[in-house]
Amino acid sequence: MWWEDAVVYQVYPRSFQDSDGDGVGDLPGIAARLDHVEALGVDALWLSPVYPSPLADFGYDITDHMAIDPVYGTLDDFDALVTAVHGRGLRLLMDLVPCHTSIEHPWFREHPDRYIWADGAKPPNNWIATFGGPAWTRDERSGRWYLHSFYPEQPDLDWRNPEVVAAMQDVVRFWLDRGVDGFRIDAIDRLLKDPDLRDDPPARAAPALPLLGEYATLEHLHSVNAPDIETALGGLREAAGDALLVGEVYLPTAALAPYLRHLDAAFCFELLHAPPDAKTLRAVLEAALELEAAWVLSNHDFGRLATHFGPERAAVAMLLLLTLPGVAFLYQGDEIGMSEGPGHDPPLDRAGRDRARHPMQWDGTPAGGFTTGEPWLPVVDAPARNAAAQSGDPASMLSLARAAIALRSELGGGTRFLDAADDVLAFRRGSGHVVALNLAGEPRPAPPAGDLRLVTHGGPSGAAPSELGAYQGFVARLA
Ligand code: GLC
Repeated sequence: MWWEDAVVYQVYPRSFQDSDGDGVGDLPGIAARLDHVEALGVDALWLSPVYPSPLADFGYDITDHMAIDPVYGTLDDFDALVTAVHGRGLRLLMDLVPCHTSIEHPWFREHPDRYIWADGAKPPNNWIATFGGPAWTRDERSGRWYLHSFYPEQPDLDWRNPEVVAAMQDVVRFWLDRGVDGFRIDAIDRLLKDPDLRDDPPARAAPALPLLGEYATLEHLHSVNAPDIETALGGLREAAGDALLVGEVYLPTAALAPYLRHLDAAFCFELLHAPPDAKTLRAVLEAALELEAAWVLSNHDFGRLATHFGPERAAVAMLLLLTLPGVAFLYQGDEIGMSEGPGHDPPLDRAGRDRARHPMQWDGTPAGGFTTGEPWLPVVDAPARNAAAQSGDPASMLSLARAAIALRSELGGGTRFLDAADDVLAFRRGSGHVVALNLAGEPRPAPPAGDLRLVTHGGPSGAAPSELGAYQGFVARLA
């Protein structure tokens, strides 16, 4: 299949490229920047939501799943983008948001039975929403409680109602008919909950993946990841045929198996949240390599690679992401080593995620070439860090990302971790290559290797060194 070992580039459309000066990125802007995407060498683009939205959750609160928000353009612009993407041999993935709609979606009033409701003076159980507060809000008009796994402006759909399944299958077919190649599926572990709405028990241990404040006080036994989740997944697969389906399953790796019986891949969030030390990374990767995990080190929710790993480790982190077998997701801006920014004052996203959503920095002008108007979030440091300058610099992060992507197809199947010095993560790829990454700020012995193919700092030349410099990594032929 085309996605085996693919690199998918995550475009956050509001912040990629503005074409009309309103300070918000748009579809013609994305089309105008395809040279960059093609030169990077990725296989596909994933667009975070571009559907009409009142922006309570910046596009993940949708009022029409089969339309384009005018701020991003029109369906004609979308069709033109699909054609342009395919014309370059690239693929396009949409973000499918099946768990909830915007509270302003016409369904909420016209088809209330498509949502999850309860009666009574109090909410029916103790469930907490992901961003804090009760997961139930009283609807002023009907006096009933509706369930929302996220913000109160995002009522959850009832996937036990066949009408919902059929409506979402129509959405999948609508975009496939327009030529898209697959979907990243949002919050898919929330599609089915306990039909009896039983209380979630108090958390007995620290959560396996980080959770926000109050949400971490419960173990989400009944509100998430229902035992019959596969019926919902099967419904999505039935509509999608053989299109690529990648699940945003916010669960530990050990819980991904049922999802992978229907999806092609699921994000490995244990890797994204792992501390940057070689031992932990190896343990997380060894468990996830047995499954079809999609690798991700950053996104619009959890911040940037160069901030999480630290700017000094950004290059080894990038080399890790791009040398793992399977599908890797690269968040726009990480290829130039952008770090998180100051966000917005007052915050636009109530859950504190503005910092990871600042505009892409194309050139060294103050607005970074992102817009001729006032950017919706400030541009962080375009004069210091931008794609134009890095494009011609062989020592840049952008050059490293391009070279690592170009090398991927030569790495071959099979991955085996090697015993290496403390702080060094080393693994063999296929029958011909070794990857070695030093996460420490001091030199460390390198595993034995033959000729260099790629080095994080400075171009490859000759035989692999016996020592890795601070925060240095390489790909070399086997000794
Ligand atoms: C996913 C999205 C996130 C959104 C949430 C609710 O986690 O990545 O941005 O807030 O789902 O749709």
